[in-house]
Amino acid sequence: GLKKKEVHVLCLGLDNSGKTTIINKLKPSNAQAQDIVPTIGFSIEKFKTSSLSFTVFDMSGQGRYRNLWEHYYKDCQAIIFVIDSSDILRMVVAKEELDTLLTHPDLKHRRIPILFFANKMDLRDAVSSVKVSHLLTLENIKDKPWHICASDALKGEGLQEGVDWLQDQIQ
Ligand code: GTP
Ligand code: MG
Repeated sequence: GLKKKEVHVLCLGLDNSGKTTIINKLKPSNAQAQDIVPTIGFSIEKFKTSSLSFTVFDMSGQGRYRNLWEHYYKDCQAIIFVIDSSDILRMVVAKEELDTLLTHPDLKHRRIPILFFANKMDLRDAVSSVKVSHLLTLENIKDKPWHICASDALKGEGLQEGVDWLQDQIQ
């Protein structure tokens, strides 16, 4: 059959935000891992949509590994940035990391799409995706297309909407 276009994606965000859980849910059910553990360094994962074949660098969000992120900026064609919508205390840390990546020389002035998942929307303390968007001042991102989706990675809710948007940006 037709070979799908290959896309390299970086999955970023603080530790415990749900990056690995999201990527795992995007794989076919027979390829999904049952137990998800904190990522050490990074892990390379693959999933397909109707027209694209995604290779995802699922990075660890732990502080000691965040210096790895920038080494993968040059080769990525899209970014998925995951936020724990219930972790209000660390929202400012997530914003700092986001601002650092947005001004990095390897990403600055590149029109690469950024998909935000305001994840863990099922938790009682979770704020809305609109609130997350304000807390991260996403409205200031002018040089890249971006989109934010509320998600519940445990149930898989909101993931398809996000990936559909990403697919539209890439074609
Ligand atoms: P690092 O690899 O350490 O950077 O973390 P990560 O961002 O990959 O997070 P991971 O996917 O390992 O998930 C962390 C914890 O959050 C796990 O216990 C998940 O089950 C849980 N989790 C992930 N997504 C959701 C969600 O949408 N809702 C709830 N309630 N828990 C979630
Ligand atoms: Mg992980």
